[in-house]
Amino acid sequence: MTKNSLTRRDFMRVGAGAAAAGVAAKVTILEPLRLWASPRPVPPSDTVRFAIIGTGVEGCTLLNATLPVSGVECVAAADLYDSRHIAAKEALGGKEIETTREYRRLLERKDVDAIICATPDHWHRRIVVEAAQAGKDVYCEKPMSHSVEDGLAMIEAVQKNNRICQIGSQRVSSILYAKAKEIWDSGKLGMVDTIEAAWDRNTDSGAWVYPVPPDAGTQTIDWDTWLDGAPKIPFDPIRFFRWRCYRDYGAGLAGDLFVHLLSGIHFVTGTNQPAQRALSTGGLYHYKDGREFPDLLWTMYDYPNFQVVLRCNHNNNTEGEFFGFYGKTGTMIIRGSTLTYKPQASCHQPEDYSIYGWPKKLRDEYLAKWTKEHPEPKPGDFKIDEDSEVFTPPPNYSDMSDHLANFFHAVRTRQPVVENDVFGSYTAIGCHMSNSSYFNRTVVVWDAAAKKIRSA
Ligand SMILES: NC(=O)c1ccc[n+]([C@@H]2O[C@H](COP(=O)([O-])OP(=O)(O)OC[C@H]3O[C@@H](n4cnc5c(N)ncnc54)[C@H](O)[C@@H]3O)[C@@H](O)[C@H]2O)c1
Repeated sequence: MTKNSLTRRDFMRVGAGAAAAGVAAKVTILEPLRLWASPRPVPPSDTVRFAIIGTGVEGCTLLNATLPVSGVECVAAADLYDSRHIAAKEALGGKEIETTREYRRLLERKDVDAIICATPDHWHRRIVVEAAQAGKDVYCEKPMSHSVEDGLAMIEAVQKNNRICQIGSQRVSSILYAKAKEIWDSGKLGMVDTIEAAWDRNTDSGAWVYPVPPDAGTQTIDWDTWLDGAPKIPFDPIRFFRWRCYRDYGAGLAGDLFVHLLSGIHFVTGTNQPAQRALSTGGLYHYKDGREFPDLLWTMYDYPNFQVVLRCNHNNNTEGEFFGFYGKTGTMIIRGSTLTYKPQASCHQPEDYSIYGWPKKLRDEYLAKWTKEHPEPKPGDFKIDEDSEVFTPPPNYSDMSDHLANFFHAVRTRQPVVENDVFGSYTAIGCHMSNSSYFNRTVVVWDAAAKKIRSA
């Protein structure tokens, strides 16, 4: 049987089975943008010199991801934990740079064009505001803000000082998400009323149970400065290394993972506002280690044209990182690094359910009339290869290098970044709405006029 010999109804039957079995899909390996790999050496006068504040897990990952980016140079790093000065240099392949506990020394350096801020969330506001006031462009890690007010203050400082600001949800620069946006913008999905996304992990590391290094102590860590405006308490290495578990410094599952999901959804759908309404539920089922956040969190959000349902679960990882965009004429799924587009069956079908409450005579007449009015399409009038399409980046693709490159390109050219401070604040507000709803056990709304989250 050739594909063109299928009747329309055969196609619907076989096509659906084939798609369910994962066959009949055209797989495309996406072409990297290579924004970061300049074809020519960048002259020293065009080199962007940057310094980094916070060289823990993410700071070191970012430093390493800058290595393939042309025309950038890290000249200094600040961290409150001395061992992380060594880790920063190692992440740069052993490069000698200035290291210090005092981040303000980096802001004072005239040869520093830009700052990367990779501290815990409770420090983002102060560093971004001071960096902008010092005339530096800033790449600030996600979630941009630790509160709605922090985000507003950061936007004001960035805009008043005419700075470039990129927030660090690197999927916004991913070629996979660019393809998803292309499919969304093409209208192939039709009207989409439901978007769901999940980020499930089922390991202690995934639940932030990070080990404490043996040299951690008040001799090696400036604990009082680290606390900043948070309540003063004696040195607690658990809080220092597992800060995501505590509300004074982090935002739990929402701030760590929902922000990536919301950034992906806002980017793909071109959303330029926070959700209007949110309702969360969840619970702390397994990690009863004194943490203040749940290990299972669900939030349902209302946007003007669709609903979003997010889930993060620390106790099962079957779904991993997942997005589903459900449209009237197509479905788009992102599972890890694989994007699948599948058309919804669009052929007309005779009613085959409710007519079984009709007498046989009426039923037969109805079916005869329907068949007359809907002749079979000729073979070849439809194509089975319109079935699923699958897209994936090449092996070792780094959206983080692309995201950093996008920032440094903007610093050099003053062109807009892909994820600016306003975008970052909107997705962070979504995280704050999620937590607000969870902790207050109420539906919350975003009051755009008052720029506040309030109970519905
Ligand atoms: N984009 C991503 O995929 C991604 C992944 C992980 C973390 N993050 C984000 O990166 C940020 C850092 O996370 P992490 O896991 O690296 O945390 P971490 O605790 O491993 O590292 C943070 C470092 O910041 C330092 N620090 C804090 N305040 C400082 C100050 N005032 N001056 C100098 N150094 C200071 C701390 O000493 C610490 O070493 C968070 O906002 C987090 O949400 C983003």
